[in-house]
Amino acid sequence: MIGIQHVSKWYKDFQVLKDCSTSVAKGEVVVICGPSGSGKSTLIKCVNALENFQKGEIVIDGTSLGDPATDLPKLRSRVGMVFQSFELFPHLSIIDNLTLAQEKVIGRGRDEAMAKGMALLERVGLRSQAAKYPGQLSGGQQQRVAIARALAMDPIAMLFDEPTSALDPEMINEVLDVMTELAREGMTMMCVTHEMGFARRVAHRVVFMDYGQIVEDRATGDFFENPKTDRARAFLSKILNH
Ligand SMILES: Nc1ncnc2c1ncn2[C@@H]1O[C@H](COP(=O)(O)OP(=O)(O)OP(=O)(O)O)[C@@H](O)[C@H]1O
Ligand SMILES: [Mg+2]
Repeated sequence: MIGIQHVSKWYKDFQVLKDCSTSVAKGEVVVICGPSGSGKSTLIKCVNALENFQKGEIVIDGTSLGDPATDLPKLRSRVGMVFQSFELFPHLSIIDNLTLAQEKVIGRGRDEAMAKGMALLERVGLRSQAAKYPGQLSGGQQQRVAIARALAMDPIAMLFDEPTSALDPEMINEVLDVMTELAREGMTMMCVTHEMGFARRVAHRVVFMDYGQIVEDRATGDFFENPKTDRARAFLSKILNH
């Protein structure tokens, strides 16, 4: 579903991604982890064409991002993205947050968009909050709304960038539960997260990045039980003993 081949990216002289290659099959869940500044957010933003890159190729469901003929806004609308900071529209009610792009981007009628939005709010346990505004919800609730909003577009894949790291500990699980359920239903997912319990339980593969490179790309059990590199081992021992 997602193919990343030899991707390199520079900010001026600084090479932020170094010859990164990996792929995510349909229905596969891949967790990306690594130290701060290693390029995780940059890589995931390249997949959604929120960042450009100078070398290599990214192909989503058969469409190359670098092909001038590719309709990037359309492709982007089919790949859901959830950020650490929720990014809800503060001046719109929860349900309007869910219907806006359905109506404006994919042209759904109001009734259909509302029905879809309410069904998704139900699914993330927030149906009763539909008329409220984002500022009236807890962080965990807002993040579940953000996930529902992404799902409203019927995405072919979902990208997450540290979706729980701005949350109080007691709210982390309610978001991870929604993500776990999505994974179990077969959603193709790329998740930047330091939630190693989630990674172990849910991910099929773990990609470990350091200094802009993909240092390990392994089946989850192999990564945790037998990391190949000292860098991954050091990272894991820090994060698991945290
Ligand atoms: N717009 C930019 N201009 C220049 N350098 C940038 C820019 N955005 C990011 N960087 C640099 O690129 C590197 C990778 O950043 P990135 O945000 O992808 O890291 P990350 O792995 O997501 O880190 P974190 O765990 O802290 O979120 C960092 O060194 C960062 O300072
Ligand atoms: Mg980041």
